[in-house]
Amino acid sequence: MWFFPKIIAHRGGGKLAPENTLAAVRCGLAHGFHAVEFDVMLSSDSIPVLMHDPQFGRTVPGKGAVNEASARQLAAMDAGSWFGPQFAGEPVPSFEDVATFCKSNGIWMNIEIKPVPGFEVETGRFVAELTRRLFAEEVATGMPKGNAAALPLFSSFSFEALVAAKTAAPEIPRGYLVDRIPADWREKLRALDAIALHTNHKNLTPEYARAIRQAGFGLFCYTVNTPERAREIFQWGVDAFCTDRIDLIGADFAVD
Ligand code: G3P
Ligand code: MG
Repeated sequence: MWFFPKIIAHRGGGKLAPENTLAAVRCGLAHGFHAVEFDVMLSSDSIPVLMHDPQFGRTVPGKGAVNEASARQLAAMDAGSWFGPQFAGEPVPSFEDVATFCKSNGIWMNIEIKPVPGFEVETGRFVAELTRRLFAEEVATGMPKGNAAALPLFSSFSFEALVAAKTAAPEIPRGYLVDRIPADWREKLRALDAIALHTNHKNLTPEYARAIRQAGFGLFCYTVNTPERAREIFQWGVDAFCTDRIDLIGADFAVD
């Protein structure tokens, strides 16, 4: 089952703003997106921050491992200039700041837990504990099924990180994220008590889509960047996808 939005801005604002920054989430919102995906890893002082790559160099100038910098150091770095001068000085944001912004602006979150190798359990646990604190009221109220969208959704390529998230915040739903669908997808989803499979749309087939839906799981695809492909996978029964082309595929995109 899928209780969440269907069209999600990838890494905040897709290709229109520097990924995994607050500016990106604002950009998505300005384009009408009230649903966002972003990547979260831990700083050296175990603070969850938005970041995709484990190494500096692509979105933040420099060399070395991101998880050897503290959250304070990361907040002073420039995660915007690589994208364009108008974003110069845009910091690496803390997950807490972004989640707070999302909550206060009614933006639903797909929180992708992105551990640096070796930090799977710690990352899953810290991200889940913080999320649970931020959503304490919603967790305590016990969301009725129809209103599950009041809670965010964790996803991760790391099974271990999701197990840790489940232990720390069992009430926050989980999706298992894979590039290629493994033979044991049912067992993995059941072990995680996950609500959905998240997969690369390039490796999905209509047969897999049918089987996953029939097994009672939601089905999410990344990263769908043409309306034609979006229409095709929706016809296969895909529930939702994230996109980099928030300029081409609107938040209200639907198969007519
Ligand atoms: O969560 C979907 C998608 O973001 C997974 O791939 O590398 O863009 O984080 P990546
Ligand atoms: Mg991601």
